[in-house]
Amino acid sequence: MMLGHLLHLAGIDSVIIENRSRDYVIERVRAGVLEQGTVDLMIESGVGARLQREGLFHDGISINVYAQRRRIDMAALTGRRITVYGQNEVVKDLIAARMVTGRALLFEVADVTIDDVNSKQPKIHFTHNDELQEIRCDFIAGCDGFHGICRPSIPEDCIQIFERTYPFGWLGILANAAPSSSELVYSRHPNGFALFSMRSNTVTRLYLQCLPDEDLAQWPDDRIWEELLTRLGSDDGWKPNVGPILQKGVTGMRSFVAEPMRYGRMFLAGDAAHIVPPTGAKGLNLAIADVWRLSRAVAEYYQSGYEALLDRYSEECLQRVWRAQQFSWWMTSLLHRSDTGNPFDCRRQRAELESVTSSPAAMTMLAENYVGFPVAHEFAALQMVLRR
Ligand code: PHB
Repeated sequence: MMLGHLLHLAGIDSVIIENRSRDYVIERVRAGVLEQGTVDLMIESGVGARLQREGLFHDGISINVYAQRRRIDMAALTGRRITVYGQNEVVKDLIAARMVTGRALLFEVADVTIDDVNSKQPKIHFTHNDELQEIRCDFIAGCDGFHGICRPSIPEDCIQIFERTYPFGWLGILANAAPSSSELVYSRHPNGFALFSMRSNTVTRLYLQCLPDEDLAQWPDDRIWEELLTRLGSDDGWKPNVGPILQKGVTGMRSFVAEPMRYGRMFLAGDAAHIVPPTGAKGLNLAIADVWRLSRAVAEYYQSGYEALLDRYSEECLQRVWRAQQFSWWMTSLLHRSDTGNPFDCRRQRAELESVTSSPAAMTMLAENYVGFPVAHEFAALQMVLRR
């Protein structure tokens, strides 16, 4: 949706096809932490009005180290902050902007296949309203997620996969309860990791480390709350407010990168090309950084015929992707209970938590990764695209 929006601003047409329904993508709760760069891009590209009104701006986060809550003041350390605003809200705003343009956006398409990706005119086939459809285009943007069809359609010898799975997952809930802290709390407790987050002034979002294939049937609401209160509660008396659970689910965790993020005239972006474990809150922000770059490369192609930016797309995206991979892996190993049961690892991790919550240098390293690296030079380029 963001790519379609940025292309529209550069005067370039696109067709967006989505296999889910509009209600599904608007209602399904997903990520929620936006980096400053993501927020700036939304505002500068004209889709940030509701975000500016309803987003929750956070200057810091806390890490609860074995019941001691310690704050990391990201704004003081980096001059930047994060914004809590649901991914589905971003999608909703982008759908509204798309509607105004009148450009194509099709929901509930099925049987999508892509052909002739290596030619100058790739094709996409799909069914929509029970009718077979064909699109002929100059480029395909594979923004279809980890389980989409774009990446698997690349021949195996043209793509390299880097992957790591983790021996745990997250059990996540959304609860009708006012957040009891105005900032996120990441917690390491003897029972494992837990995270306190939110979506609004009345809705709390919480997660518990669990097995990757944890059976939700074993987790009645009372048990979830008991475990959340145990793992999140701190010595200063802080704990989350309890309320009715609105949604719950289990997600496995993986780190994954496909290189290069291009095959012929198809460009992969977001989860289609890379997955990070959610601990660093980077997934959505990486996808936005990818499509910003792709929009610029495509705009350059139509303006001057130059393919230089298209040729550099994968390499430039991957620099940011690998930094986020490193950070997400590190945050994950810093905060989760390892299943190796090696007491050395446990003590070493605790020493690292002490260092990360006391050394200004270590806190700054965490904070600058968490708020995201500046993309100011890239936005200067956005201004140029818009002016042309
Ligand atoms: C969320 O609010 O859903 C959230 C926040 C921080 C994370 C992951 C998820 O690291």
